[in-house]
Amino acid sequence: MNNSLPFSQACENNKQVILDILKKYLKDGDSVLEIAGGTGQHAEHFIEYFSAHCPDLHWQSSDIPSNVDSLNLRIESLQRPSLPLAISLDVNQTNWNCDKCNVIYSANSLHIMSAASVENFFSGAGKQLPDDGLLFVYGPFKYEGEFTTESNAHFDLWLKDRDTLSGVRDFEWVVELAKDAGLDLLEDNSMPANNQILIWRKNNSGKPS
Ligand SMILES: C[S@@+](CC[C@H](N)C(=O)[O-])C[C@H]1O[C@@H](n2cnc3c(N)ncnc32)[C@H](O)[C@@H]1O
Repeated sequence: MNNSLPFSQACENNKQVILDILKKYLKDGDSVLEIAGGTGQHAEHFIEYFSAHCPDLHWQSSDIPSNVDSLNLRIESLQRPSLPLAISLDVNQTNWNCDKCNVIYSANSLHIMSAASVENFFSGAGKQLPDDGLLFVYGPFKYEGEFTTESNAHFDLWLKDRDTLSGVRDFEWVVELAKDAGLDLLEDNSMPANNQILIWRKNNSGKPS
């Protein structure tokens, strides 16, 4: 392991359980856009597996302009053809300016972004994905206004202390935003450490169902 690369212990802890879910859905030939790639540990872990099992799966990571160079430190060190250098992508851009993809993945990003950015995340994902395209979102959520655990409630306070616009999002709200973007909720998986993986599929009508 290269110890000089940006590192997140949380990513180290959750990367395998997330991969276990992705493995059930992703297939050879898929083209994945990762939003908010962070340290690149997820991209690295997932592409190690998929290069061996789905050599034509392509993983395009991205992050906001101020974070993309740091994300690329890890990606550049890996030199994997199916994991090109990350692109700059802020979900608030009117045009995401990225190649076609049929899967979008994002972890631990919705509680960092402002509520307005979360709205733009879903409307952008709905525009970017083709019919039957999949959206995976990993992170903590509230249900009917309640935190799933006390530690998530503390986490929310900690987030808001850093940035008043951040915060753990309401499950029902993101499901509604996704629906407006033409995305049907397929699964809500409870994960370790009080997180969820939500999976949506773009519906064929291209309109809310
Ligand atoms: C807590 S980190 C998560 C990083 C990584 N996905 C992980 O699971 O560790 C939150 C990420 O959200 C990104 N982010 C914040 N605002 C964003 C925006 N408007 N558009 C895209 N990414 C954004 C940050 O740059 C950062 O990489």
